[in-house]
Amino acid sequence: MEKILVIGAAGQIGSELTLALRKVYGDQNVFATDIKDAQSDIKKSGPFQLLDVMDDKRLIHFVIRYKITQIYLLAAVLSGNAERLPLQAWDINMRSLLNILDLAREVGIKKVFWPSSIAVFGLTTPKVDTPQLTIMEPNTVYGISKLAGERWCEYYSNKYKLDIRSIRYPGLISYKTEAGGGTTDYAVEIFEEAVETGKYECFLKPDTKLPMMFMPDAIRGTIELMEADSSKLSIRSSYNLSGISFDPKGLAEEIKKIIPDFEITYKPDFRQSIADSWPQSIDDSVARKDWNWKHEYDLEKMSKIMLRETKKKSGKK
Ligand code: SER
Repeated sequence: MEKILVIGAAGQIGSELTLALRKVYGDQNVFATDIKDAQSDIKKSGPFQLLDVMDDKRLIHFVIRYKITQIYLLAAVLSGNAERLPLQAWDINMRSLLNILDLAREVGIKKVFWPSSIAVFGLTTPKVDTPQLTIMEPNTVYGISKLAGERWCEYYSNKYKLDIRSIRYPGLISYKTEAGGGTTDYAVEIFEEAVETGKYECFLKPDTKLPMMFMPDAIRGTIELMEADSSKLSIRSSYNLSGISFDPKGLAEEIKKIIPDFEITYKPDFRQSIADSWPQSIDDSVARKDWNWKHEYDLEKMSKIMLRETKKKSGKK
């Protein structure tokens, strides 16, 4: 029987992935952990404990005590926050991964999941339909840590035969838990502000096109990759994954179809240069070929659900 440890279970991905994993593997077999308290549905539906991924001694005790067989490491400092405290972000993002990789090797963990990001690409990367294998010269701390992380994952896979699987997530859009400190977070905040105030001041320029994905696609993709037959996986660094690409102007137009009075203004900040260094769209043909990945949600479908659910959450009809 699988016993799964989720690190970062209170975050934007973790808060949804934990519940999805509990449906697949059984509530009591998915151990949610975070350095901060989790949402009540995570705590009510199965085990939750406060745990710091930097505390390698407690981590190894936890893994042995609960006979953990799979680890999902979702804790990280995202792109915007990482630019504010570069060395701390590097330390947290790298040390957490190395702790887990080495622990997994030592204890004999069956599978590890670690998220990479479109942030591994940089200004010299082809921007449109960015290939799986291409020039990678990230110029953000977050991107540098993700690229180094990918190299370490492949290294542990080659050298120690560790079964590690990873996705380069695009910007993830969800309504359940706030995103924290990312550059693509405007596409989450915009829905909250549209519902609350009918206005949004965007920190990116109107034509900043970026690769994005609705969370249900990301969750399904993650579980599909983790369930795929190991022999089919040709990539042990991290898979490109594509959903929808749009810019703030296009997203605002979509919102206006439902909230006609919605107004957007633009005041780009330091995150503009982060976004300018990332691709506009991603070629994910390798993921499609290796494990049959296919996204489901387009801009219209995603926006409708986001507005409906954000309204419900805020108590508005
Ligand atoms: N969405 C993340 C960010 O903006 C990128 O992985 O930081």
